[in-house]
Amino acid sequence: MTMCIVNMKAYDGCYGAKGLELGLALEKVAGEFSSETVLAVGAPDIRLFSENLSIPIYAQHVSPFKPGGRTGAVLAEAAALSGAAGTLINHSERRLTLADIEASLSAAKRVGLATVICSNNVNTSGAAAVLGPDRIAMEPPELIGGDISVTSASPEIIGSTVTHVSTLAPEVGILCGAGVKNGADAAMAIELGTEGVLVASGIVLASDPGAALADILQGMEQ
Ligand code: G3P
Repeated sequence: MTMCIVNMKAYDGCYGAKGLELGLALEKVAGEFSSETVLAVGAPDIRLFSENLSIPIYAQHVSPFKPGGRTGAVLAEAAALSGAAGTLINHSERRLTLADIEASLSAAKRVGLATVICSNNVNTSGAAAVLGPDRIAMEPPELIGGDISVTSASPEIIGSTVTHVSTLAPEVGILCGAGVKNGADAAMAIELGTEGVLVASGIVLASDPGAALADILQGMEQ
């Protein structure tokens, strides 16, 4: 099944009551397609979104800790209790060390969260995949939030990631992201051998986020 993870990031209008309103609009559109659509939200919003939406809600991050004397942690245990179905781990906007990626992955697996490790290039995608997440999501950092999709700017990097990850860890799913905006970008992501896309600004900052999601899902499913 193809997959679209919408990362709500920390954009204005993407958290709290307004964020939920946006989430409800996206969920309505997602219901018209067969792809799995997921929303990745900040820790304070996991419960709000999980309790009011039926599509899977992922945490944007979980800490590499077990419960204990920590301050400011996003415990995998707490994320799961709040209703998260999965989590992103590592991100160019939330970089972790290799040791912390492994520890966050263990924490997420301990409580049964689906796991997506974000990576920034071919080699880190391979290293991340060997750790055994459900999926990796490759996003060249210089294209994140920009107007040019990774699928047009660097299709060869996606192809090489697919080859590298499939060789090292064939059971790990592959997503790509950065600058993905429309159905043509999403169709290219599938053509290059991924399961789908991780996307933020192309949907949540669009003048009509629902229409943007519909276009992307249509592109993936054609
Ligand atoms: O996590 C998704 C992300 O980093 C891509 O962001 O705005 O380029 O779709 P964007």
